[in-house]
Amino acid sequence: MLDIFKTNKDKKKREELVLDKDNMPRHIAIIMDGNGRWAKQRKLPRTMGHKAGVETIRRVIKETHILGIKYLTLYAFSTENWKRPKDEVSALMRLLVEYLRSELQELNKNGVVIKILGDINMLPKDAQNEVKEAIELTKNNTGVVLNIAFNYGGRDEIIRAVKLVSNDVKSGKLNIEDIDEKALEKYLYTNGTPDPDLIIRPSGEQRISNFLLWQCAYSEFWYSNVCWPDFKEEHLHEAIYDYQHRDRRYGGV
Ligand code: FPP
Repeated sequence: MLDIFKTNKDKKKREELVLDKDNMPRHIAIIMDGNGRWAKQRKLPRTMGHKAGVETIRRVIKETHILGIKYLTLYAFSTENWKRPKDEVSALMRLLVEYLRSELQELNKNGVVIKILGDINMLPKDAQNEVKEAIELTKNNTGVVLNIAFNYGGRDEIIRAVKLVSNDVKSGKLNIEDIDEKALEKYLYTNGTPDPDLIIRPSGEQRISNFLLWQCAYSEFWYSNVCWPDFKEEHLHEAIYDYQHRDRRYGGV
């Protein structure tokens, strides 16, 4: 977080940041962290933090649409999150179902394409059904592509890809000599989505936590101390503003 944005007066400055419309990230990915701490600070149960986090999701999708960003990926549930207390896991499953039930028509009306990164077969049946319906209903839309990473892990995704590649080699569909970056990417959950230009992690943590391990090779990272439920449109603007002032060299000079 830049110091100049810390006071109220500076909040005004942040809202006035001028973004370069010609240099928008094509794909923003967000690790929605800090829900638990947000709730704890307010003496609320952790699940209330996740609930508040869904409000932020609504705002961020809308702003993504307004800014003309084509791809948005949200890390909602990792392959490691099954280790959380049972009631928190159930609450997160429920929030996914409730979110899709309440938002699907509106998202569809706005042209959003919903995709899931992760293995949905492990989700409760009602969540699987909502997810399938959302994917099916929105698959021909042309607006923002919303990737919801749910039961997602970067290592898991790579292992899955290796297995799929092996099967195709075994069955003669793929030659070993033809395996390159482009070929492998087709086996990832993100097939069809460009790599994230910008990865945002709020809440003060600065690690990747098994998120988009293959895809983040040349992503720009942006961190903020605010917890996800407090993440506002102006934080998104600030992240994009910083991104636009970075020098991306992709290993060149
Ligand atoms: C990380 O915060 C957040 C999560 C593991 C869940 C994020 C999920 C949602 C915002 C809602 C469900 C998703 C959809 C798409 C409706 P944390 O709990 O690790 O926070 P902490 O580090 O402060 O404890």
